[in-house]
Amino acid sequence: MFDIPHLDLPPLVGACGTVRLPGSKSISNRVLLLAALAAGTTELHDLLDSDDTAVMLGALRTLGCGVARGARDAQHWRITGLAGRLALHEADLFLGNAGTAMRPLAATLALLAATQGGSFTLRGTARMHERPIGDLVDALRPLGCTIDELGAPGYPPLRLRGRPGGQLALERPIRVRGDVSSQFLSALLLALPLAAGAHDITIDVEGELISRPYVEITLALLARFGIAVQREGWSRFTIAPGSTYRSPGALHVEGDASSASYFVAAGAIAAAGGAPVRIEGVGSDSIQGDIAFVDAARAMGARVASGPGWIEVRRGRWPLTGLTIDATPIPDAAMTLAVMALYADGPSRITGIASWRVKETDRIAAMAAELRKLGATVVEGPDFIEVSPPPAARDWRAAAIETYDDHRMAMCASLAAFNPLAGAHVPLRILDPRCVAKTFPEYFEALLGLAQAAPADVPVLAIDGPTASGKGTLAAAVARALGFHLLDSGALYRATGLAAAWDGVTLDDEPRVAALAAALQLRFGQGDDAGRTWLRGRDVSDELRLEATGLAASRVSALPAVRAALHGLQLACRRAPGLVADGRDMGTVVFPGATLKVFLTASAEKRAERRHKQLISKGISTNIADLRADLEARDERDRKRAVAPLKPAADALLLDNSALDIDESVACVLGWWQERSPFELARRRLA
Ligand code: DC
Repeated sequence: MFDIPHLDLPPLVGACGTVRLPGSKSISNRVLLLAALAAGTTELHDLLDSDDTAVMLGALRTLGCGVARGARDAQHWRITGLAGRLALHEADLFLGNAGTAMRPLAATLALLAATQGGSFTLRGTARMHERPIGDLVDALRPLGCTIDELGAPGYPPLRLRGRPGGQLALERPIRVRGDVSSQFLSALLLALPLAAGAHDITIDVEGELISRPYVEITLALLARFGIAVQREGWSRFTIAPGSTYRSPGALHVEGDASSASYFVAAGAIAAAGGAPVRIEGVGSDSIQGDIAFVDAARAMGARVASGPGWIEVRRGRWPLTGLTIDATPIPDAAMTLAVMALYADGPSRITGIASWRVKETDRIAAMAAELRKLGATVVEGPDFIEVSPPPAARDWRAAAIETYDDHRMAMCASLAAFNPLAGAHVPLRILDPRCVAKTFPEYFEALLGLAQAAPADVPVLAIDGPTASGKGTLAAAVARALGFHLLDSGALYRATGLAAAWDGVTLDDEPRVAALAAALQLRFGQGDDAGRTWLRGRDVSDELRLEATGLAASRVSALPAVRAALHGLQLACRRAPGLVADGRDMGTVVFPGATLKVFLTASAEKRAERRHKQLISKGISTNIADLRADLEARDERDRKRAVAPLKPAADALLLDNSALDIDESVACVLGWWQERSPFELARRRLA
């Protein structure tokens, strides 16, 4: 996940390959609640791992449900339900900005408190307290639920209270508005079977029901838990007498169809000629309404094939065709159409989206503002948006996209990075990219796994310098701050030296050492394993850092054939969104066109001191004088060698960090980067 202030994406020129989608948010939070209300244990597979499901899991745990991770797949959970009986009668629950947790838990706890007694407080983020819930409160109060609005009337936070033995008035139809959010109806449908007795429970929907496909998800999942709901059109729903939640035992969560929309769009825009974008986890058999987005994408020009659990998309017509669509059934995925409209031959008009205004942010206003920054012309109304693409390629702008703590704004905006396919060539800045964690924490990794950038467009920040100058620590910190890949080129030479030792190859046997370098089976850890390294499947993270290994590296690195053998491996690390590379010749030989070159130095005294500290902390005793002599000898060899000697590139910025701590060094390099990043240069050029 990119937990950084902003992520710069280079211009992207194509997309192909396979993406496996995370589980559907709507399905995940519904089945969690249903499993919590049923008796016994439900095994949930492929559950979404995100902020919104985390708050639901946390709430259920607080309420006394059994919540345990299973071992079958990465997202296997075992939920042991309450069988409709409260395990505790007081709780204060924080539900973040998750509407799919707030609305159904409000209905559930209101009904349980009213009949079994208790007091439950539901709160969320500041934005959650601006998202309406009054229609649900209005539907529940006439049944006998006591609901206190602790903030503004009609909005969370709420307190749900009641006494044991309370009765609910269920004889008359329950009335709920359907034209603000379908989540109010879904919340009632999920919770009311708790109150099922000898009679039907009827819900009448007032106003035109929006987002019907989400209600269909609710009905389909209720059926999986043994609850049949009769529906008369979209205005009356009836729960049969004696309904009880019965766990299906195990349930697989399908991939998120709204999340699929970004990859369908990427395929329609950028999978030209070769292989398609293949999406796995959701397909033609989906119960999610947003799967209908595929038809809208087709209408714009996408070539789509699909089957159970998969979708393949290629570019069809190009440019895309502007479309007019009533997006009432696909409000979330319709945001993606607004961004696809940047690549169309004329304006696109999306109507039926009044609900956008009460989502994670006011999505109509947000979308209009950000698309305008990119160069589009946008007209917005209370329930529609009309987007005309930038009139010409030169009208595209290098925009810093605000994301408003809205995951979909961030994911949608990323599609503007394909602007070279519209003839433009601008990098894109996504502010607060972490907000995708709401539903798709690894979104940018997934997109960058499919997208292609021209190597020359992928920025490189080269950090060279002598041994023990602190390059490695600095490079890792800078890479983390920018969300870039990291190349520790010294590790390649160290691993080569190690492989030679393992195989009994002498260090000056150039052809044989070069052959080892060319066939190096080296793997760098990602994510939780970042910083660990495996050679031929063996964890060599500690061995690589030994002084003896460094010395061997220094010797093999003087052999031209070894350097040549490792060259391609290093170039291949230049992948979007960018690369921070540290070594001796990153700026001079491997990446002579690097965006920023830093040459890091520190006095020999200071470097020996640091290395000494490092070794002592590892429990290795040494003396500073010997260390300093070793360092100086190694630098001398690295500087004097015939190929790629250690020296600053002519255009490198020198940083002597003798008197700086690591944070100061990082701040200095990031400051230089801010001035020179491709995004900053493009912004100045186009301003
Ligand atoms: O950065 P390091 O200490 O891990 O490097 C170990 C040795 O590898 C160093 O003495 C010189 C060599 N090296 C090199 O020649 N070129 C690089 N780009 C990186 C390291």
